[in-house]
Amino acid sequence: MKQLKVAIIGQGRSGYSIHGTYLIDDTERFKVVAVIDFIEKRRLLAKERYGNHVVTSDNYKDLFGMDIDLVINASYSHMHYSVTKDLLMHGFNVLTEKPFCGTADEVQNLIDTARKKKRMLAVFQNSRFTAYFMKVMEILESKVLGDIIQVSIDFSGYARRWDWQTLQSHNAGNLFNTGPHPLDQALQIYGEGMPKVKAFMRRVNTFGDAEDYAKVILYGENKPIIDVEVTSCQGYKPYVYNIQGSKGALTGTMTKINWKYFKTEELPKQKLLLSFDKEGTDIPAYCAEDIKWYEEEWTSEGEKYGTFGASTRRYYDMLYDHMVHGDQLTVTAEQVKKQIAVIEEAHRQNPLSKKF
Ligand SMILES: NC(=O)c1ccc[n+]([C@@H]2O[C@H](COP(=O)([O-])OP(=O)(O)OC[C@H]3O[C@@H](n4cnc5c(N)ncnc54)[C@H](O)[C@@H]3O)[C@@H](O)[C@H]2O)c1
Repeated sequence: MKQLKVAIIGQGRSGYSIHGTYLIDDTERFKVVAVIDFIEKRRLLAKERYGNHVVTSDNYKDLFGMDIDLVINASYSHMHYSVTKDLLMHGFNVLTEKPFCGTADEVQNLIDTARKKKRMLAVFQNSRFTAYFMKVMEILESKVLGDIIQVSIDFSGYARRWDWQTLQSHNAGNLFNTGPHPLDQALQIYGEGMPKVKAFMRRVNTFGDAEDYAKVILYGENKPIIDVEVTSCQGYKPYVYNIQGSKGALTGTMTKINWKYFKTEELPKQKLLLSFDKEGTDIPAYCAEDIKWYEEEWTSEGEKYGTFGASTRRYYDMLYDHMVHGDQLTVTAEQVKKQIAVIEEAHRQNPLSKKF
């Protein structure tokens, strides 16, 4: 089995805890040969984890000239574009963390550069491969819920935050940080075309200057209304997905989904009436009927690596099969360009003063 030589830029919650944790578990297919981080103790942590032979540095330019199949760019979000561009220019295949870039123009520039240099450009949209989202897509595609009228996606919680993920200067805030997960899913549901965007963003309890409340509504002709919330002031969490369809409905979390639907041919026959009386009386009443619902349930039981770990593994399966066997990359830079355009438009509608 071909083993790909990998470098990781950034040894933080992503580079160390997500990518590193996965890669040390898949040594048949991947070998970490270099780790870059500004912080010395994190470089030492890398030596401890991967062995003394691993090259470490505080400057990603030290990778230039090394024999590396794949560079994972898990640097700070505002560095994704410039670092990925430089790596592509120097002939590397790059997997960039979300958020891919700060603007859709930057995404297009990376796409053009990768094409020119004949290198792979991939984006780590791991939420595309979560079991709950794959189940939601399967149910939508089965059409049991009929036409989809509204999809509400809620990635919120209640939290205060005081790290770099609160700074506009770092391409941070809830929409750039958490937003790429639900927005990537939302755009898969939306399908072809660029949605119209209506967004609301607020600063509530943040210590930085980027928003910690974001609501984004995507809509378009003959498309469902998709309502995405990424707020840090939601203390009660009813669902991650809530879907309204013309023949049924769905509600679900990342571990359990319930959905119900009716069969049109089994509905009681009705015709329009202007007023109703309670049967057998002259007492006014509302119209009501018994619908025979078919109810189903899915749970994530059996997800070997948990919701997050399993999605990382599926992402790397896709990436490896692309790099080694020439299979299609199912998450493409072109798709993610749309997501960045949505985020850009949301920011355009909600300018926030800069404090730092
Ligand atoms: N896909 C996901 O689920 C997921 C989860 C967490 C973070 N992320 C993304 O990963 C990126 C990193 O976030 P994090 O939470 O790991 O941050 P972090 O603060 O935990 O760690 C970042 C590390 O990278 C180092 N670093 C940053 N830029 C560098 C550069 N140019 N050269 C050398 N070292 C550099 C820093 O010194 C730090 O140690 C962000 O873009 C974030 O959005 C994605």
